[in-house]
Amino acid sequence: MSADALLQLDQVAKRFGRVIIAEDLSFAIAPGEAVGIVGPNGAGKTSLFGLISGDLSPDAGKVTFDGRTVTRLNSAARCRLGIGRTYQVPRPFGDMTVFENVLVAAQQGGGLRRRASYDAAAQALERTGMTGQANVTAARLGLLQRKRLELARAVASGPRLLLLDEVAGGLTDPEVAQLVEIVRGIHADGVAVIWIEHVVRALTAFVTRLICLAGGTFVGDGAPAAVLSDPAVREVFLGTEVTASLVPRGSGGTVPLGGPRGSGGTVPPGGGDE
Ligand SMILES: Nc1ncnc2c1ncn2[C@@H]1O[C@H](COP(=O)(O)OP(=O)(O)OP(=O)(O)O)[C@@H](O)[C@H]1O
Ligand SMILES: [Mg+2]
Repeated sequence: MSADALLQLDQVAKRFGRVIIAEDLSFAIAPGEAVGIVGPNGAGKTSLFGLISGDLSPDAGKVTFDGRTVTRLNSAARCRLGIGRTYQVPRPFGDMTVFENVLVAAQQGGGLRRRASYDAAAQALERTGMTGQANVTAARLGLLQRKRLELARAVASGPRLLLLDEVAGGLTDPEVAQLVEIVRGIHADGVAVIWIEHVVRALTAFVTRLICLAGGTFVGDGAPAAVLSDPAVREVFLGTEVTASLVPRGSGGTVPLGGPRGSGGTVPPGGGDE
């Protein structure tokens, strides 16, 4: 593996029946990198996160994190090593308060005890702007706050790599902007971020590298503007449009992209929460 990689996948393969999730997929993420992943619905983006976080086992290949082979470790063990993730459909404990939810993440996910876990939970709430909701029962939260709680739970586990699965889906433009600022703050603390998102404007405001996944392989991988204007990537998103405001500055006007769920920058109804 490359000496300076935080995460590395080597020839990872995974199928569900005839659906190819990963086909000899190899890539590396550097410490502190900010990477976006786009791809059509059903491309295997969430499943790729499963392979990284340990929720899924690959059929073949190797996953390395921080110089250690983690291929056979489960998600709890990988979380303790520093791989934190959010889920596309948030999974809070509905009858527990926001603070209790985050505390469980600090203790179970981060392996922290007593005072250290309370401190980590409090910091995670602060980081995600959820301190004011600490005593609210999770089931009572609206969509933005549920997304923030999902983020707070991942942060409380003390990740060095944070996997975000459609945390911006279903949010308004100002809410997306707030979320990007929160993620920016987490990243500024030295956490590497891989962010799956159909809301491309959220990604282009933050990431320095963009990957397009389709058919179990990377159709594009590089600087966001270059990937978004790559004909092969545009082909994958054929029939959809992303307006210039969603594309990084200097990359021209309207280009076809953005994922089948959105068009012209609108957020799809219920996006990310199905
Ligand atoms: N546990 C599973 N068993 C069988 N098939 C699965 C399983 N998980 C996912 N799939 C299938 O694998 C494919 C990829 O699913 P995945 O959820 O990874 O896609 P995605 O790119 O995240 O899609 P979306 O953009 O809609 O979230 C889909 O065809 C899905 O039905
Ligand atoms: Mg998904």
